[in-house]
Amino acid sequence: MQALRRWLSLLRNWCLGDQMTRSILLIIGGGIAAYKSLELIRELKKRGIGVKAILTKAGEQFVTPLAVGALTGEKVYQDLFSLTDETEMGHIELSRAADLVVVAPATADLLAKMATGLANDLASTTLLATDKNVLAAPAMNVRMWHHAATQRNIKQLKSDGVAFVGPGEGEMACGEYGLGRLAEPLEIAAAIDALLAPDDLPLKGKHVLITAGPTREPIDPVRYISNQSSGKQGYAIAEAAVRLGAQVTLVSGPVSLPIPPGAGMIPVQTAEEMLKAVEQSLPADIAIFTAAVADWRVASVAGEKIKKRSDGKPPTLSLAENPDILRSIATRKNGRPKLVVGFAAETENVITHAQEKLTKKGCDLIVANDVSEEQGVFGGDANTVHLVSKSGVENWPKLSKAEVATRLMQKLSEMA
Ligand SMILES: Cc1cc2nc3c(=O)[nH]c(=O)nc-3n(C[C@H](O)[C@H](O)[C@H](O)COP(=O)(O)O)c2cc1C
Repeated sequence: MQALRRWLSLLRNWCLGDQMTRSILLIIGGGIAAYKSLELIRELKKRGIGVKAILTKAGEQFVTPLAVGALTGEKVYQDLFSLTDETEMGHIELSRAADLVVVAPATADLLAKMATGLANDLASTTLLATDKNVLAAPAMNVRMWHHAATQRNIKQLKSDGVAFVGPGEGEMACGEYGLGRLAEPLEIAAAIDALLAPDDLPLKGKHVLITAGPTREPIDPVRYISNQSSGKQGYAIAEAAVRLGAQVTLVSGPVSLPIPPGAGMIPVQTAEEMLKAVEQSLPADIAIFTAAVADWRVASVAGEKIKKRSDGKPPTLSLAENPDILRSIATRKNGRPKLVVGFAAETENVITHAQEKLTKKGCDLIVANDVSEEQGVFGGDANTVHLVSKSGVENWPKLSKAEVATRLMQKLSEMA
């Protein structure tokens, strides 16, 4: 009871406290993804986070000081040797006035300067002078990212305590494909939120990865196989984890729910996309798999809409098994999250099946729920769950999904 009261007080202080006064110094480097820093500023302002920005000389080639200034509502700092800037707010003061320094996009050049301690312009001097935590969101061409020099710099910076978000994998502006894309503004904002959370929140500094919703496996360009998962339980867990100070990545299939404030979101459609997004989001301290992943996909997706046949015969769909996301993460040799939690939706013998799943998948905890029609779990707001682990079964009463989420995250934060 005392522990619960402490939690409530921590949460209240955080929610009602000084959120409006949280502020960051955003350093915008000269990368093609610099335009996304504008979206990031808007997202941070929505969260009540103040933003002062430094625009590098190269950054100015991609976004204008006018746009950055209009969105931050603040002066934009560009020149180390500006007498006016120095009299208003010197570079040392600028480096320490904010609660966190964020470099987005972090160019290969800025990362190299940070790793070697160069200080030959306003951005690099500020980064060397700061006494605050630094978060870097790298963005560059795939070959620049994989270059031994960049990887050496990243390793050095990680050991110096610099936090990273991204980069992601995908199509690049230069037409190549691979790792090096700037993390999405929502993901960066979630990482910032987590780093700004008060130190005494129980999941501060922890990365919680959550999957939610159904997957959608295409049959042809207009049809798909899916299921009735609403995503409500996973989204509620994401909210609870954010409230406890975690950096949250939510990998979600198609649902009609708003993105939980403070969570980073990766939208996916298919099971294969979900696995890839999960793998790219590692490392994580806790991984919670609530998504209702389709067991099968259509082996060969038709390129055109399948037409009705004149002989009245229906088409034959041959299915292929989808990857087992929970098992593949829970049994990883390298980079397994400390806690791997699976959800089991069962319509009969709920506990027995959950115990079998616990062993078969190699996870630490199974949250089992009865999704038979009379329970109304799919799409509903309540859930009756049983926590199955090697040490036994905990039966929880019927609770709202929000309450299940809060209790589960409290429990996991004590175990993590
Ligand atoms: C069109 C164009 C796009 C660029 N995109 C990137 C990029 O995405 N990432 C990167 O590290 N460098 C990129 N560069 C190179 C940087 O602009 C260059 O290294 C510059 O010196 C970085 O300066 P800064 O780190 O002070 O911002 C790009 C250059 C050009 C001309």
